[in-house]
Amino acid sequence: MKHSIIVNQARTLKGIIKLPGDKSISHRALIFASLAIGQSIIRGISQCEDCFSTLKCLKDLGVRVKREKENLVIFGRGLSGLKKAKRELDCGNSGTTMRLLSGVLAGQNFSGVLTGDKYLKKRPMSRIVDPLRKMGAKINLTGGNYPPLKIRGSQLKGIDYKSSIASAQVKSCLLLAGLQAEGRTTVTEPSRSRDHTERMLKYLGVPIKIQGKSVSVKKEKAFLGKEFVIPGDISSAAFFVAAALILKNSCLKILGVGINPTRTGFLDILIKMGTDIKIKNIREICGEPVADLEINGKGRLKAIKIGGKIIPRIIDEIPILAVIGCFAQGKTIIKDAGELRVKETDRIHAIVSQLKRLGARIKERKDGMEIFGRSELKGTSVKSFADHRIAMALTIAGLGAIGKTKVNDTDCIRTSFPEFEELLKRVIKL
Ligand code: S3P
Repeated sequence: MKHSIIVNQARTLKGIIKLPGDKSISHRALIFASLAIGQSIIRGISQCEDCFSTLKCLKDLGVRVKREKENLVIFGRGLSGLKKAKRELDCGNSGTTMRLLSGVLAGQNFSGVLTGDKYLKKRPMSRIVDPLRKMGAKINLTGGNYPPLKIRGSQLKGIDYKSSIASAQVKSCLLLAGLQAEGRTTVTEPSRSRDHTERMLKYLGVPIKIQGKSVSVKKEKAFLGKEFVIPGDISSAAFFVAAALILKNSCLKILGVGINPTRTGFLDILIKMGTDIKIKNIREICGEPVADLEINGKGRLKAIKIGGKIIPRIIDEIPILAVIGCFAQGKTIIKDAGELRVKETDRIHAIVSQLKRLGARIKERKDGMEIFGRSELKGTSVKSFADHRIAMALTIAGLGAIGKTKVNDTDCIRTSFPEFEELLKRVIKL
């Protein structure tokens, strides 16, 4: 039976929490530890299903992994030491797993098939396959754009690629292929997407050149395994920050969250909306900036216009920003966010249609939405479209809606944040 979450309107939110490891950084730590020489230890890895998909695929490719309490020890096989898998590599729901591992597989000396669940099979892959083919990769896909991807490993050559979309998955895929390609590989984006791959390469001592919106790597012989400490996930934090802002007199501290500037557009927007968010105790861990957040919810929010180059910096937070917009004074406009239509589901349609059911005055636009804030939300039954971020955003909306809200089909939350419901129960005061 499918799981659902029932929430009642809440009074306030209070507490101090620490969130599980960042999903994007966890994927990368698993992949780079597997491609390193020798042992790596990963501390604070995300326990989400997407990261398990990456881990399972890497094990299928011959990587040995040992669990030591909450940590993982990875026995790296080097850049060209992976083994042909005995079965198809199942990426589950995870676009990051599929796109990053495509870059790894393209340069190996064996073939492999990357597949996924029915949702991942509908997500566009030509964005990575086209440039990988330019590098000499041999890849077959379905209908010219969709998984499964059949990749025949081959000798790659570096290219200078100008991507039409700002996507860290595309960029990271090409950098992973670039480490195995003759010559230099350069990726230029229209605006900078999250830079965890670049930071991790630097942390591992791998030469990487960053110039404006361009990133280059050269063929790499080898790098050594290291200790990876994963900071708390700012995209998971976003749901708790939102709840604290919607519910009056809230006071929430979130300890040890990643505040990489390519991910903090959400905080910048909220500060512009007039909220009280303090970023304290800033430090650096394994090349990533980390801080403690303190949120004092006053229940006063001003609507703003969101668009342009901030979009890649808030790409995963737009559903929860839409929820916040419902509680803000004035009209919130989100534009230039057409990429949301090709996420785990069409997130523009999903969030707009379900917030409408809750009574929000919200309009779908081709590349975003318009939200007329401060109309009262009323609890009812809504659905997640099997998308984790839609399920969590609607749960938070339910905390601010009158009466009872039932969010159907919430198993998907495990994709990124299995601890969500438990943690929320700890800080919500009814
Ligand atoms: C991710 C990049 C983003 C983001 C996704 C994780 C990553 O996707 O939406 O949740 O870890 O590289 P795109 O690169 O498709 O924008």
